[in-house]
Formats: sequence, C-alpha cells, structure tokens
Amino acid sequence: MSPGRVNLIGEHTDYNDGFVLPFALPHATAVSGTRIPERHWVVTSEQTGETVTFDLSEKVEGWAAYVAAVVWVLREAGVDVPGAQLRITSDVPFGAGLSSSAALECATMAVLADLAEADLPLRDRPRLAQRAENEYVGAPTGIMDQAASTLCQEGHALFLDCRSLATEQVPFDLAAAGLKILVVDSKAPHAHVDGEYAARRKACEEAAGILGVAALRDIDVAGLPDALAKLDDETMRRRVRHVVTEDQRVLDTVAALRAGDLRAAGPLMTASHESMRDDYEITVPQVDTAVRVALEHGAHGARMTGGGFGGCVLALVDEEDCDAVEAAVREAFAANGFTPPTPSW
Ligand code: GLA
Repeated sequence: MSPGRVNLIGEHTDYNDGFVLPFALPHATAVSGTRIPERHWVVTSEQTGETVTFDLSEKVEGWAAYVAAVVWVLREAGVDVPGAQLRITSDVPFGAGLSSSAALECATMAVLADLAEADLPLRDRPRLAQRAENEYVGAPTGIMDQAASTLCQEGHALFLDCRSLATEQVPFDLAAAGLKILVVDSKAPHAHVDGEYAARRKACEEAAGILGVAALRDIDVAGLPDALAKLDDETMRRRVRHVVTEDQRVLDTVAALRAGDLRAAGPLMTASHESMRDDYEITVPQVDTAVRVALEHGAHGARMTGGGFGGCVLALVDEEDCDAVEAAVREAFAANGFTPPTPSW
C-alpha cells in the first residue's frame, strides 16, 4: 500500500535541493500481482475497469505509463522484472495534486520488487521512482512525492532534505491539539501545468547558474538580498525569493512542530501561499479564493499544496470550525461561478 500525500509546506523546493514537509493521506494505492511466464504485463485498474497489456517493445501512454515506467526503471537498475498480472486498487483522488501517480509508482515498485525477489532497500526507492517519472513518463518532477509515498509514517510529517535525502519523522498529532487539516480540491482545470512547472524549474536552474551555486538551496535568507542584487531579471528574482524563503518556512515549521506548537504552522502556511501567489505565480483564482475564505472564517493558516495551477488547498483549523470553513469555501465558489470544490478528506 502506498499513500498519496499532502505537502504541509515546502513547495517547489524539492528540485532546488531544498526542504519539504509532506505527510501521508489516509488514501492509498495497492497493487497486487502474480508472476506469469511471458515477459509482458497485464495491468487492470479496478477504478476504471480497464486492462492494459504491454511488453518491453512498447512506450505506454495514459495511466499504465506509470506502471511501465517502473518496469523500465527497475530493469535499468538491474532487476530482472518477471512478467506479471497486476491489479490496482486506489482511493487516492486522481488529478487533485495529491500524488496519485507517485502512489501508483511506489506501490508498483513494491510488488514488482517482491515478484522479482529483489533486495531493494526502501531508501533507494524514491530516487528510482522519480527517475521513472522523469525519464519514462517525461515529467520533470522533484523527489518529494515518491519520497512521501515511500517514507511517510502515520502521525508524523516527513521532514526531507531533498539533497542528502536525510529524513526526520516529525510528530504531527493534529487530534491531540484539537486541530484538523481541511483539504479541499479546488477542481480548477490544470491547464498548462506541465509547461509552467518545467518553466519554473528551468528558471531556478538558470538562476543557480548565474549565482554560481549548485542549487538555490545553497542560498539562505541572510544571503538573499545579495543574491537578488546579482539578478537582472525581475521575474527570476521573484522565483528565487520564493524558493529561498520557502526553504526557511519549512525549517521554521519543523521547529514549531518539534516544539509541539502546531498552531504556529498556520501563519507560515499562509505566507507560503502568498509567496506562491505573488512570487512564484502558480496559483489560480479558485485556490486563492479558498485560502482567503478559509482565513476569514478562522483558519490558523491556509495554502495551496502541490505543483500548482489548481489542485488542493489545505487549511489548518480548530476541529470545531472545520465544517463552517468548508461551507464558507463552498458558498464562495458558488458565488464566483466556480465548479463546486470537493472536500478530499
Ligand atoms: C509536484 C512534483 C513535486 C514537487 C511539487 C511542488 O507535486 O511532483 O516533485 O515539485 O509539485 O512542490
């Protein structure tokens, strides 16, 4: 079973070698499988009822590409993956920015490693699954989603250093603090998301090149003014400011959680959202509305989570306020003529 994830904070920092703090959703993807003598894979999705069959000669498209990508990457890593019949069940919302694809990759990797009787340590799996996504599927994502799906533990957020892959399980007991995280799917169409994601990543890499660092992670908040002064392009300056301040917000959030002050994460989440909206420019009216309305109705903090241009908003709320916040967001969406949002959790 591999869960989807919500990223509490640390957006677009992973491919800058920075910090992220995701936690697992209760929703997960399970893949079961049996070996077959032929070297091909017969994959059935219980959700759609579809079955896709592929062998090594084909480049697979659609949802089964994530399965084929894992077959490919395991073979690249020297695992002799046997042919198999695979069955996928999942309740991770699809297309909501909650990493349904990483959950599928990681669950597939687990079952194929078992069938191949390969010794594949957990700590090595995120990089392999990321490579599957980058090189086979062709999405230039960072490592957060695959790491979260593989390494998150219940009752904890996963503090991950995306450079060293060092991890810390940070206690995150919302119920004990009388809190909830409301996750609302904005239902905004994910138009242009792939191109915009790649463009943000490229801008960051270019900026790191100009600044003479391996990645933007190497600039901290104290060094930010100097770094910004070296960049001519105003858009690039804003992108860099987002990444550098976002890394700091992750560190501050981890400090708050370690101190048991979960409410202190709220303002950091809101600041993260503002940075994504104004500096990284990856939000859309639906998510901005959900965040604004959640804050107006008592949320301690709220932000979009995931790659951007739609997806989910999370709001940190006192348990007793959760229903009211959700209702207010729903009303605001209706008033603006947006597709009704759905609570994801
Ligand atoms: C997507 C990617 C991740 C990460 C986030 C933004 O979820 O898959 O690697 O870059 O966007 O934080």
